[in-house]
Amino acid sequence: MAGLQGKRILLGVTGSISAYKAAEWTRALVKEEALVQVILTEAAERFVPALTFAALAGTAVHRDMFADGPEALMAHINLSREADALLIAPASAQTIARLAAGMADNLLSAVVLAARIPVLVCPAMNTAMYHHPATQKNIRRLRQFGYRVLQPGSGELACGEVGDGRLPEWDDAREALLSIFAPSDLRGLKVLITAGPTREAIDPVRYLSNRSSGKMGFALARTAMRRGASVTLVAGPVSLTDPPGVEVIRVQSAHEMAECVFARAGQSRVIVKAAAVADFAVDAPAEHKIKKSGDGLQLDLVKNIDILAELGSRKTARQILVGFAAESRDHQQEGRRKLQDKNLDLIVVNDILGSQSGFDVDTNQVTLIDRNSSREVPLMSKEDTADHIWDAVRSLLAAGEESPFS
Ligand code: PMT
Repeated sequence: MAGLQGKRILLGVTGSISAYKAAEWTRALVKEEALVQVILTEAAERFVPALTFAALAGTAVHRDMFADGPEALMAHINLSREADALLIAPASAQTIARLAAGMADNLLSAVVLAARIPVLVCPAMNTAMYHHPATQKNIRRLRQFGYRVLQPGSGELACGEVGDGRLPEWDDAREALLSIFAPSDLRGLKVLITAGPTREAIDPVRYLSNRSSGKMGFALARTAMRRGASVTLVAGPVSLTDPPGVEVIRVQSAHEMAECVFARAGQSRVIVKAAAVADFAVDAPAEHKIKKSGDGLQLDLVKNIDILAELGSRKTARQILVGFAAESRDHQQEGRRKLQDKNLDLIVVNDILGSQSGFDVDTNQVTLIDRNSSREVPLMSKEDTADHIWDAVRSLLAAGEESPFS
């Protein structure tokens, strides 16, 4: 099951101007086939009517602790029993204070007090209210209870002030929900990942590059992060946004990528090279834009360092090195050759002939080859493919040592 599909999310909405964004979040959750139940506080309903949420979630909205009827009875206990996670967005200063005090004076606070499921709180309020010592103390208290509290966004607020207090972005909340549901089996593991293409300058405006979008490497970073790893991502020029919680270092050329990776390789337990590094660079890039003169242009190319092969030659006994191979035929044979030649522990061979696999698409079809076995992974999203790769890495770590992450 991918992403949030099939997850039962109980969404508590409280009184903030950003309550309308919770309606958008409801829509996003439903689109992803999550099952959403909504609880509104009285103040929330002043901003967005219950009917909006009922229409978007496709179910009745819960508002009243003392409502009658078979479904409403004991709602404060039953609602969280029938959910996988409780998401409070936006969480106003008032609701945060209520929860920190352990109060149960409306349906939402009573549900939170009775909940035995993970609670994710997304604050939204005026900057001064957010930074007030009382709110900060309340947030610390919620964290002590084991609730996950996201940092609010920063920028222009509805009240006209500029600062912290915006409702976090949906992508960040979604990522936090996904990490709640992911196993923590990579906790403490230091991981270095490369992604995207490299650009080799011809002159100040032109370059040699390839079709890599970075999607595969970024999916690896996101999924490792969700599973508890500490992740550094070295990315070539791509238009993807930084995955939350991941240290991202942007580079341009193969030379820059090599320097950056070698500087960090020693501290990394696992290195995964999903980048499509240019094999050649222009020997002497022109300082000024090359003019169109004559009928052609001769470029002298020099071979770039093979970063992966170099990492293989420096690899310590405790390190796991994972390479990628973009192949159009003889997957097994080519994969095994690169595994041996570059001293890898695992190689991920992409089929780049299929239109839904390899470069610049959201899906991939790979073969995982280690020194003893190989496994075909069918066509699936790059995030699901990444999870299969981490499962394979985990098995290699577990096979290598009693305490794999020490
Ligand atoms: O970015 P996407 O659009 O999501 O596409 C993903 C991908 C197809 C780029 C990715 O899944 C992939 O296959 N990456 C490796 C592509 C590649 O360069 O394959 P290769 O067979 O040329 O290289 C083999 C390995 O050596 C790779 O791990 C590569 O990172 C590494 N290499 C290659 C050349 C070089 N100079 N240095 C390297 O480290």
